[in-house]
Amino acid sequence: MRAQVQKVPQIIEFLKTKSVWLQHCKTTSSVCVLDSKDAVPVAPCGHSLNSIPGPTSWPLVGSLIELLRKGGLTRQHEALIDYHKKYGKIFKIKLGSFESVHIGAPCLLEALYRKESLYPQRLEIKPWKAYRDLRNEAYGLLIMEGKDWQRVRSAFQQKLMKPTEVAKLDGKINQVLADFVKRIERASHNGKIKDLYFELNKWSFETISLVLYDKRFGLLHQDVNEEAINFITAVKTMMSTFGMMMVTPVELHKSLNTKTWRDHTDAWDRIFSTAKLYIDKRLKRHLAKPSEDFLCDIFHHSDLSKKELYAATTELQIGGVETTANSMLWAIFNLSRNPRAQARLLQEIQAVIPIGQSPSAEHIKGMPYLKACIKESMRVTPSIPFNSRTLDKETVLGEYVLPKGTVLMINSHALGSNEEYFDDGKQFKPERWLRSRDTIKPFTYVPFGIGKRMCIGRRLAELELQLALCWLIREYEIVATDYEPVEAIHSGLLVPNRELPVAFIRR
Ligand code: HEM
Repeated sequence: MRAQVQKVPQIIEFLKTKSVWLQHCKTTSSVCVLDSKDAVPVAPCGHSLNSIPGPTSWPLVGSLIELLRKGGLTRQHEALIDYHKKYGKIFKIKLGSFESVHIGAPCLLEALYRKESLYPQRLEIKPWKAYRDLRNEAYGLLIMEGKDWQRVRSAFQQKLMKPTEVAKLDGKINQVLADFVKRIERASHNGKIKDLYFELNKWSFETISLVLYDKRFGLLHQDVNEEAINFITAVKTMMSTFGMMMVTPVELHKSLNTKTWRDHTDAWDRIFSTAKLYIDKRLKRHLAKPSEDFLCDIFHHSDLSKKELYAATTELQIGGVETTANSMLWAIFNLSRNPRAQARLLQEIQAVIPIGQSPSAEHIKGMPYLKACIKESMRVTPSIPFNSRTLDKETVLGEYVLPKGTVLMINSHALGSNEEYFDDGKQFKPERWLRSRDTIKPFTYVPFGIGKRMCIGRRLAELELQLALCWLIREYEIVATDYEPVEAIHSGLLVPNRELPVAFIRR
C-alpha cells in the first residue's frame, strides 16, 4: 500500500531556481506566517502555482537528473529535507511531466486540513482500478472517491476508529503474538534473526487476516501450508507489479497483455478468490447473530453490497500489512539503540502487567511510556515518509493559490525531523511526548495522514504495535549489533538499507 498511499512521483529532482519577480515581493500571510529564514518572499496577494520556488525543471526530464545526483529515488526523503531547507516550507518539483507541490510546515498542513473538501483525494492507483473494472469488482477505500468513498468509509469507521471497539480485538492480536514470540525463538541464531522484516510481515499479515477473515493462515508456524503461501505470494506479486504500471500507461499494458499486466491480474484473482471464500464463510457462520462478529456487524449495519465488502476488506488487509510490520521494525531498531528507554519501558510493562498475564487493551490505558515510545519511533522513522492529496478545488495555502488538480505531497518525515518543531529532532526521546501537550505543535506529527481520509486502521495498528512491544520487551532484551543501517525508500516505505542489526537476548 505504501506506494499507493504516496506513490509519489517515483522521480523527484531538483535544481535551484528563484523567479526574479519573487525577490521583489514581501511576505504576507492570511493562513500562516512563514518564518523569514524559510519564507519564500511573496507579493501581498495570492500567488500562482508558477511562483512557488523549487529546483530547476529541464525540458522533458524536469528535475530528475538532480535527484539522481542526490542519491536517487531511495534517498528521496533526504532530498526532500534538503529542498525544504533550500526553498522553504513549500516547494514545487517536476519529474518528467509530473508536477507536485511539497509541504513541510504545520501551518500549511493545518490550512489544508481546514479547507479540505467533503471527499479528499489521493493520487490515483490506476492499475488497481483497471483490474476491478476488468472483473467488474468494486473499489475499496484506498482507491474509492466521492460519495461512495464516504459511504464505505462510514461503514467501517465506527468499528475501526472507535477505541472501545478496537480494544475488543486484543484477544485476536494476542493469539498471533503468542506464536510470534515462539517464532522469534525458533528463527534466531545467537539472538539474530536472518530476515526480521519478513517475520514481521508474516506477523502483521496473520494478525490482520485473523481480524478481517477470522482465519488463521499459520504463517508463523513451522510448516506453513500451501494455501497461506499462495495468499501471501499473491499479495506480494500484486504489490510488486503495480509500480511499473504507475509510471507507464496501464491501458498499454492491458492492450498488449504484457507479463506485468498478466501477473498483476492473476495475483488479484487469487487475492479476491481467497478473500471472498473466507468472508462468505464468516458471514454464514454468524448469520444468526451478526452483531456479535466484527465484520458481520459492519455488513449488517450498513448498505454495503457484497462486492463492496469484498473489495473494502481486501484493501484493509493490503493497507495493514507492510505499514504495521515496518513500524514495528523501526520501533525495535530505535529501542535497541536506546537501552535506557528500553529499560524504562520494561519497568512500565512489569509494573502494569502481572506476571503470567497477557497484555490487554485495558493494561495499555495505563502505559503512557509505551505509547510515547511508539509515537517517537513513528516520528523519527515514519514508515510512510510522504503522503499525497490531489486538490479537487482551488485552494489557498499560505501565500499561494493552488488550482484544482494540483498534486500535494505532505512530507511527514521532513516535518518529524525538523529541529524547529522537535528539539534534538534526530534523537529518539519518548519523554518528549510525556511533557505538557503544548510542547508539541499540532500538525507536526502525521504518520497516519490527516483529515477525513487519514488512515482508518490507525487505532488497530497502534494497538498491534503496543501489544507487540509488551510481549517482546517482556521476553527479550533487544540489543544493537554491528553497523548502523541507513534509511532508504523502497516502494514508498522507509526501510533500513540492510538487515536490521539487532539481537534478541532472552531475559
Ligand atoms: C503503523 C501502521 C500504519 C501506517 C503508518 C499507516 C499509514 C497510512 C497513511 C499515511 C495513510 C494515508 C492517509 C491520508 O491520506 O491522509 C493510510 C491510509 C489507509 N490505511 Fe493505513 N497505516 C497503517 C496501518 C493500517 C492498518 C492496520 C490498516 C487496516 C486495518 C490500514 C488501512 C488503511 C486504509 C484502508 C487507508 C485508506 C483510508 C481512506 O482513504 O479512507 N492502515 N494509512
